[in-house]
Amino acid sequence: MSAENTSLHGEWSSQLGFILAATGSAVGLGNIWKFPFLTGSNGGGAFVIVYLLCVLLICMPIMMAEILLGKRGRSSPINTMRNLAREYGHSTAWQILGWSGVLAGFLILSYYSVIAGWALAYVPQAAMGTFEAVAHLPQAEVVGFVSAIFDNLVADPWKLLFWHTVIILLCIVIVAGGIQGGLERALRFMMPALFLLLLILLGYAMSTPKFMEGVHFMFDVDFDKLFYPNCTEFSCEFSGQGILAAMGQAFFSLSLGMGAIMVYGAYLPKTTSITQVATIVVISDTVVALLAGLVIFPIVFSHGLQPDQGPNLVFNTLTVAFGKMSAGNFFGTLFFILLVLAAVTSAISLIEPTVAWLIETGRFSRISATIFCGLAAWLLGFLTVFSFNIWKEVRPLTWLMSEQAVLDVQPGDFVDKTWFDVLDFLTSNVMLPLGGLLIALFTAWFLGESVLKQELALGNRGYRFWRWVLRYVAPIGVGLIFLNAIGLFS
Ligand code: PHE
Repeated sequence: MSAENTSLHGEWSSQLGFILAATGSAVGLGNIWKFPFLTGSNGGGAFVIVYLLCVLLICMPIMMAEILLGKRGRSSPINTMRNLAREYGHSTAWQILGWSGVLAGFLILSYYSVIAGWALAYVPQAAMGTFEAVAHLPQAEVVGFVSAIFDNLVADPWKLLFWHTVIILLCIVIVAGGIQGGLERALRFMMPALFLLLLILLGYAMSTPKFMEGVHFMFDVDFDKLFYPNCTEFSCEFSGQGILAAMGQAFFSLSLGMGAIMVYGAYLPKTTSITQVATIVVISDTVVALLAGLVIFPIVFSHGLQPDQGPNLVFNTLTVAFGKMSAGNFFGTLFFILLVLAAVTSAISLIEPTVAWLIETGRFSRISATIFCGLAAWLLGFLTVFSFNIWKEVRPLTWLMSEQAVLDVQPGDFVDKTWFDVLDFLTSNVMLPLGGLLIALFTAWFLGESVLKQELALGNRGYRFWRWVLRYVAPIGVGLIFLNAIGLFS
């Protein structure tokens, strides 16, 4: 193998190493925390259907393309894009894709780590048996009790800062250790364990009285709920935000569009089948998200919780579940530990593109690059930490509006977003789909046909279909959803 064909940063020991790492990146808070709360806030079944369509028609082919680019480029996304563009005689401006990924990675990590910190804070709570009280409370007081635990946590910036710091430190230690060191070994146990625990929770959810109501909520499709979320008796306004959120969630959950999958692809052994690994990663990620939903909603309906309560949904729901189920302290502790681990294996893939690039500049060692990135994300994390307490009322998007217009802002309006909401919206719903769009266009229109055929080994028909989807379906799909969201079709 020639030197330029191997990555400077090492390689996965096998195809399984990549699958574990990419699944580790994909499966995380996006599946267990975000998917249920977005489904709950966007009316259920219609959101789930749009999400699944996006996964299948837009994200799956883009996942293959992103892995392919990494595998050909063999370096950080910035250099991969530059080298590939050069190699095929195109403008090196394509490296912008790498840069936007770097930025998106920081922005996401900054809030991701704070939320992972919530999960970490729940570990000692579960272990000490705080949730047990739920079993002895009258039904009417359950919701108040679990909400109080959550609200107490997020109301205290110092607590959030503490847990956020611990998570960032964990990420630094793992990323500094290099790609094979700890990562592959840990993932081998973690992923199956997380899956098993979700199944145990599903068992509990099935024993609750309203299991079927939860199932219906997730799979009964009612598009009105997605398109007309804020209907009153007198008015119904169309909104494309729900569809945009579903697409954004598909990209977010699969870690697509920002270079995480690309950089992992760069560490792939030459002989890997891209199609096969992409399929496995997409299926695992989707199954975990659906399972999480099937666990959460029956519990929500059985205990009088609200499906649309937002980011605290999963925490409040699971607290009830662990409080009521037998051996709940044990399972609760284990679950939140696994959730933290799943989050950390995603978090590390958020900085790996930048770390790899810094190392390639020749001015950083892996350790110094990792510390630098961790520090930057940690500082940026303050925006999210404060979004839940001292800056709870701050609405950055209204800063450029006139005073009168600000007074007219209603709860739920587009500009009614805290710093956390802004970061989340900007990354998931704008930057990742845009990144994915560019990946699709570059791969399908600008790379040589022989390379694609050789890398995918799909057979002629399969290859043509894939390229057609990547050339037309994915870009047009992303484009239409964007236009719809800014209200062009309403
Ligand atoms: N896919 C991760 C999750 O679902 C989050 C993530 C997004 C990780 C983008 C890397 C890149 O939790």
